[in-house]
Amino acid sequence: MSLVALPPVTARTAPQTLRDRHGRALHDLRISVMDRCNFRCTYCMPASTYGEDYVFLDNDARLSFDEIERICRQAAALGVTKLRLTGGEPLLRPKLPDLVRRLRAIDGIDDIAMTTNGVLLPRHADELKRAGLDRVTISLDTLDADAFRRISGGRGDLQDVLRGIDAARGADFPGGLKINAVIQRNVNDDAVLPLVEHFRGSGVVVRFIEFMDVGNRNGWTAASVVPSSELVERIGTRWPLLALPPRYPGEVATRYRFVDGGGEIGVISSVSAPFCGGCTRARLSSEGRLYTCLFAAAGTDLRALLRGGTDDDALRGALRDVWLRRGDRYSEERAQHHDAGGRKIEMYYIGG
Ligand code: GTP
Ligand code: 5AD
Ligand code: SF4
Ligand code: SF4
Repeated sequence: MSLVALPPVTARTAPQTLRDRHGRALHDLRISVMDRCNFRCTYCMPASTYGEDYVFLDNDARLSFDEIERICRQAAALGVTKLRLTGGEPLLRPKLPDLVRRLRAIDGIDDIAMTTNGVLLPRHADELKRAGLDRVTISLDTLDADAFRRISGGRGDLQDVLRGIDAARGADFPGGLKINAVIQRNVNDDAVLPLVEHFRGSGVVVRFIEFMDVGNRNGWTAASVVPSSELVERIGTRWPLLALPPRYPGEVATRYRFVDGGGEIGVISSVSAPFCGGCTRARLSSEGRLYTCLFAAAGTDLRALLRGGTDDDALRGALRDVWLRRGDRYSEERAQHHDAGGRKIEMYYIGG
């Protein structure tokens, strides 16, 4: 890595916006704080691969809170304002509110969110709110208890997740609550209208995600993707919808509001309408590898730098170097990659 060639940057004032090779700024850091999960969703960590014998990271292989905080501080100095805690399941990481409290105190960070399966929220929601967590997104793919158990690889209980949603609503996170539903053809495409009906008018925003070819093990085929346009059509026929403008360029979800005032929904169309052009996201795995795309094959080992005694300036230089070299636009080039058949990082390892 050519760190020496980089001009100095001071931590407090990033002189100008850092841009990658396609002119995209670095705004978001998504941090996987735990590679394990208590579910085995078929599209993410299929039980056939992640069985009892699967070896996850040792505790000391995962970044410590000190290490995560150091990276976030330098990322903030380079322009990151938004953090998202993910997993695996982030709430399996002991003392997570302590991390939230530390991240909250970093200059420049104005939004901290978490993506969770929700099961452990009844125990932790209030403390996370007090620690400064702004927003929570809960994964919920169906309201049918049997289908839910199947999709979660036999591990999940729908009632536990619904209790988690209630706990998050009770905690009243300032940035609100979203539900993420990954829709697969002939698996849970019948769950769409019931999910909309259940959450309409509650203030909870449901987003439907096109099944993606993340990782190498989820058996993805193009035929199993339900294009968002089809869902919008289906939902809009029952409850008329109006398209909403994006809140920022390259917004992940395309939003619609119910004409009758019942709130809004979102669709995430990374297969049928990729949004790489506005992608400002970097991802940190639980063992400290930095990835610049959800579909990356390789990351940069920040843990080795941290544990090798690197100072903050060099750490920031390394982050900057990675971003400057970034040219990823996997979703826009999907067809070419499939032809090439390259290996990709797994979703549970890098977060959603
Ligand atoms: P906020 O804008 O912070 O609310 O988050 P978001 O809209 O990015 O949503 P969230 O982080 O919940 O992401 C929802 C889902 O969208 C993820 O679980 C992924 O399936 C997909 N997604 C998010 N970011 C990306 C991305 O950079 N690339 C692709 N291809 N998919 C993404
Ligand atoms: N396709 C789309 N989204 C996925 N997620 C995990 N695997 C996939 C996939 N194959 C997302 C879901 C889940 C979050 C943790 O990651 O949104 O809620
Ligand atoms: Fe766990 Fe979420 Fe992956 Fe399901 S999608 S296995 S809950 S990390
Ligand atoms: Fe960003 Fe990669 Fe997703 Fe494109 S495919 S939006 S570059 S993470």
